Amino acid sequence: MRMILIGPPGAGKGTQAANLVKRYQITHISTGDMFRSAVKAGTEFGTQADAYMKAGDLVPDEIVIGMVLERIAQPDCAAGFMLDGFPRTRAQAAALDAALKAAEVGLDAVVLIDVADALIEERITGRRSDPETKTIYHLKYNPPPAEVAGRVVQRKDDTAEACTARLGKYHKETAPVIPFYEEAGLLVRVDGVGAPDEVFVRITTALEALRTQAAT
Ligand code: AP5
Repeated sequence: MRMILIGPPGAGKGTQAANLVKRYQITHISTGDMFRSAVKAGTEFGTQADAYMKAGDLVPDEIVIGMVLERIAQPDCAAGFMLDGFPRTRAQAAALDAALKAAEVGLDAVVLIDVADALIEERITGRRSDPETKTIYHLKYNPPPAEVAGRVVQRKDDTAEACTARLGKYHKETAPVIPFYEEAGLLVRVDGVGAPDEVFVRITTALEALRTQAAT
């Protein structure tokens, strides 16, 4: 299975991806995680990306596209992958489409996790993650257990200010990518409000329906 998870910042892409990649036995590719690893490693590439991320801006296409196309060509992606946070612009979607066509493979699904803007800031500012296990928590909706609470960290771009900028970028740059996949018959729209387990069931049910439809 080759799929994309798309949605506004804080929609729950990372939360859902963790379980979806286990269910479908595919490789998880999060561009945000790739950039955060580069920042942590202190590479020049990471330093460049850090400035954009902190401000809630998108990292330029010329940096992102090459990084993702190289990643999906790796052997661990041969059996399938989940792109989380890519594509985010029309240019990224076009580059992915061209690369997949050249490799004579197709996408199976694009899952859009829908969450209203009014709910996003609370999700973003309350997010904490465990640097050891990478588990994502939320101070209110999924609080870290006592033994983990002392080590959880907050992302630098999870401020109210950067959240507004990220949401603006989502509507301006990423939302226009959605019709491209809708016209291709690949889009599955899922309500992202409710317990994460409920959202997971909605996604897997919708994916099965899409699979059945494609097979008939
Ligand atoms: P990235 O890391 O991709 O961030 P994002 O898309 O803004 O998404 P988030 O990681 O913030 O949220 P999420 O949807 O994964 O939600 P989560 O599951 O954590 O990108 C970061 C930056 O990198 C970008 O701003 C950009 O600068 C750069 N970048 C990355 N990709 C790029 C690209 N392709 N092009 C250019 N630049 C790029 O959940 C959020 C919170 O809500 C958590 O606390 C969670 O516990 C909670 N939660 C989850 N589900 C629920 C639920 N159902 N109910 C209640 N709470 C929930």
